[in-house]
Amino acid sequence: MKVLVTGGLGYIGSHTVVELQLAGYDVVIIDNLSNSSTKVLEGITKITGVTPEFYELDLKHKNKVQDFFEQHQDIDGVVHFAASKAVGESIEKPLFYYENNVTTLIYVLQELQRLRQQNFIFSSSCTVYGEADKLPVNEKSAIKLAQSPYGNTKQIGEEILKDACKINPDLKTVALRYFNPIGAHDSSNIGELPIGIPQNLVPYITQTAIGLREQLSVYGDDYSTEDGTCIRDYIHVVDVAKAHVIALKRLIKKEQDSNFDAFNIGTGKGNSVLEVIASFERVSGQKLNYKITDRRKGDVAAAFADTSKANDELGWKAEYTLDDAMADAWKWEQKLRTK
Ligand code: WQD
Repeated sequence: MKVLVTGGLGYIGSHTVVELQLAGYDVVIIDNLSNSSTKVLEGITKITGVTPEFYELDLKHKNKVQDFFEQHQDIDGVVHFAASKAVGESIEKPLFYYENNVTTLIYVLQELQRLRQQNFIFSSSCTVYGEADKLPVNEKSAIKLAQSPYGNTKQIGEEILKDACKINPDLKTVALRYFNPIGAHDSSNIGELPIGIPQNLVPYITQTAIGLREQLSVYGDDYSTEDGTCIRDYIHVVDVAKAHVIALKRLIKKEQDSNFDAFNIGTGKGNSVLEVIASFERVSGQKLNYKITDRRKGDVAAAFADTSKANDELGWKAEYTLDDAMADAWKWEQKLRTK
């Protein structure tokens, strides 16, 4: 079975490629290297012993997308990660986010429709829920006004999927709504590779601890949470990767009746920023240098998942703890900087 992974050299993409290969799939990667490098291919090969086929290709170029699918009609499933994903950055560059996240999805789906391809997994996000009225959020929770262009691109992406399925009954799609993926493969051969100043909390923590960054800024401690800092559902990236393998198997085995389905991929537990810092200090044995600053635009106070649907219908459950993820993130950061 051959699986195309777009954005397969990215953070979640590369960990998913590893789990797909370990599950016996042949993997083909498309990536434009805007937020990754071909060194990730070496890391994947070190873990699985198999170098996936790789094509450097920007999905914003429609004719190149068409050529690729013309030459690869033997694909049994597509896992679509290729997108930009920084909430804060999307507020500064909304048009880039709509072009990079939405147009590319349309071009891929147009090819799937032309080739009668059937199985498609969409990298969605808990940000589709916006500021949820009730926590934890489940898949029936209201899809509220997105708090950022990034979240909006994921909401729009899911709507596009639903409409694409209406005119292509063969197309079976799953939107996996990740909460906050963190950590790295425990081999430290792959992990998060933020280019420039990290937008996300955990890589900023590890880069501060290793001395690359002066001090972590905690964006606000005046939220309506126990310690005043924002709450998120931090899930180990390998748990997220494994959810894709299970969801894809289910599609290929035609075990999904509906043409579109969505699942929350989280731990079901919320942790505050200060709790994440405490976890890092516990697993690393060192104090972190941080200060409290103003809130960041686009942040919601709290978001964490009700994962019972994925537990029951996919038979998937997060296995790693916050400390496991922080330990793997720290090990990866140390390995990165000692090369
Ligand atoms: C987490 C918390 C910040 C940096 C992420 C992904 C997004 C989506 C949802 C998948 C917030 C605080 C951060 C810093 C801080 N996932 N923070 N100082 O915004 O929840 O979004 O999860 O689709 O793709 O980006 O994650 O790590 O940026 O922020 O205090 O230097 O950490 O305010 O409360 P976010 P994040």
